[in-house]
Amino acid sequence: MKMKSFLNIVLFVASFNLWAEYGHNLWLRARNQGRVHVVCAKSSTTISIAKMELEQGWQGKSGASVLLKLKSDKKIKGDGFVISSLEIQANTELGILYGAYEMLRREQTNNIVSTEIINPSYERRILNHWDNLDGSIERGYSGKSIFWKSGKDALVVTQKDIAIWKEYARANASIGINGAVLDNVNASPLILTSGYLKRVKAIADVLRPFGVRTYLSVKFSSPVLIGGIKTSDPLNLEVIQWWNKKVKEIYSLVPDFGGFLIKANSEGQPGPQDFGRTHADGANMLADALKPYDGIVMWRAFVYDSSDHDRAKQAYNEFMPLDGQFRDNVIIQVKNGPIDFQPREPFSPLFEAMKKNSVMPELQITQEYLGHSVHLVYLAPMWEEFLKSDTYQNGSGSTVASCTDGSIFPQKYTAIAGVANIGLDTNWCGHQFAQANWYAFGRLAWNNQLTSEQIANEWIKLTFSSESEQHLNTTDWTENFLIPVKQMMMESHEAAVNYMMPLGLHHIFAAEHHYGPGPWWAPKYMRKDWTPPYYHQADTIGVGFNRTTIGSDAVSEYHEPLKSQFNDVKSCPERYLLWFHHVPWDYKLKSGNSLWDEICLHYDKGLQQVRGFQKTWDKVQQYVDADRFVEVQVKLRNQSQNAQLWKDGCLLYFQQFSRKPIPYNLERPIHNLQDVMELDFSKTE
Ligand code: GCU
Repeated sequence: MKMKSFLNIVLFVASFNLWAEYGHNLWLRARNQGRVHVVCAKSSTTISIAKMELEQGWQGKSGASVLLKLKSDKKIKGDGFVISSLEIQANTELGILYGAYEMLRREQTNNIVSTEIINPSYERRILNHWDNLDGSIERGYSGKSIFWKSGKDALVVTQKDIAIWKEYARANASIGINGAVLDNVNASPLILTSGYLKRVKAIADVLRPFGVRTYLSVKFSSPVLIGGIKTSDPLNLEVIQWWNKKVKEIYSLVPDFGGFLIKANSEGQPGPQDFGRTHADGANMLADALKPYDGIVMWRAFVYDSSDHDRAKQAYNEFMPLDGQFRDNVIIQVKNGPIDFQPREPFSPLFEAMKKNSVMPELQITQEYLGHSVHLVYLAPMWEEFLKSDTYQNGSGSTVASCTDGSIFPQKYTAIAGVANIGLDTNWCGHQFAQANWYAFGRLAWNNQLTSEQIANEWIKLTFSSESEQHLNTTDWTENFLIPVKQMMMESHEAAVNYMMPLGLHHIFAAEHHYGPGPWWAPKYMRKDWTPPYYHQADTIGVGFNRTTIGSDAVSEYHEPLKSQFNDVKSCPERYLLWFHHVPWDYKLKSGNSLWDEICLHYDKGLQQVRGFQKTWDKVQQYVDADRFVEVQVKLRNQSQNAQLWKDGCLLYFQQFSRKPIPYNLERPIHNLQDVMELDFSKTE
């Protein structure tokens, strides 16, 4: 073995044990319970990692021998693999590594391995880090960036940096994540300067053996800001040459560089429209520069401006006319819903509308709108609902998953992105249970057919196994720990929707921090589409945004039969009711209750659900180590308090319009509206 890779491995092993407790080991806690002999004809750093993982985590028969076989097979796609009880076969070394993690996961979760071909749903499974170069993280709730820092040593690569990047890469590889965009979509042009590119190279070198390719967010106006050119017009020859040269420089440092992510002409970011050009002109110019190296452009469709009277329609309006005009190495990156990572949204119509160019989903793992790192909210049920939504793009059964993974239309590249919730906090994600969201993103990106329940099951077993080894797989542990904790996780997203924004309400947060309730929040200086009353439209008649054909007509962006279903208040699913309709307060819902009563019941139910989570958690104390137990217990208390504020604030505010009593069988608000309105939620966390 070469000296360098030997050192790499020593460092890799040492870094496993930096934090034995407090959740730093994520879902990778298990230690071997017997010896295994791993055989592979090939040697490389990636193969050594696969071998070492099997040796260190082996829970199968002691003394067994496992064969790692690199052999081409057309049935295996990309970095997929064939797994059987004592063999892993793959076309690529990474396939072997993913197979090793799968084998261990099966052993550790007691899931018998039969011979199976396991192929990834998406070719590129990418984390988007909204990390700024000064080390802060936009919408980050788990400490500073693992990649960037401020100060005079900002660019110095330390052993500590390398150790954390290695642990990060290993965690990603263990769930199949194979890409990382290292910097914020609100990008600094400095990322493309030589000092930063050298650090990018250092990061890429660490991530590579684990199969994690490096990508960068770039600022469209970089040619002017750092290139000394007078324009950033994508059709200008000098600009084209500047990008070509920059791309060449990047590949000379990072030969497997993945490509660019771009936020253009969105929320004040520069873009091709500044020069009278289209999104396609801008994206194609960059795509041409990246093409010779197999790089891609992920061009974001998160665009809206204050002039339109329905923000939910704008991405579709801007991008639909361009379908077919983008190069084949451009993928349009679309947030799951038409607005912005709300607790619940219908899927963005762009997923069914664009048929000629590829579209990739962008999910948000960091809980910007779902309680930051305070609330326990397991996001996989929401993502499952989204991926399984039928778009009718090509008849019934055209789920979002199949519109984006190449199963309906052939696509040169398929991809999915998740906005990361990772920082330097010891437990990586700020909340022990937020780790489940990182885990679930990876597992769904690998297999978009998995259910959120299967994933929760795996995660709980892997994450809480070490202290319950003697209990694991016993009826006692299953009944008294696994089942109640899983139930709590499975209910947690719906609970948050209930106490924050039930029945299709959306974007009623206070201020810009997106944490506490603020349906009243509308400072005079603020753009209307950045204030809650724009979204809830409450008045004495009713509440909700009319997006029907006699309203903003956003319903027409959906295929039939969805358009008609959403358009009619009677057939519109109640979970989207106030998203598509302005509904009178006394309108009768399916339950027979009036809208007002149903809103009250939902807010109250959400709060009661969190109170229930507290009971569930307290009851499982004996199965969890003390540190993690207390940490979660304290967070649940905060979540309960916050859910109470949501209920009280929203009901007392909307009551001013409905002028109806809160149903008498419900607990009364315990805060005054004025008091809730005066709270500064940015400090409540
Ligand atoms: C949201 C978020 C911003 C982010 C933006 C984006 O608006 O609040 O912080 O920059 O989404 O996705 O670009």
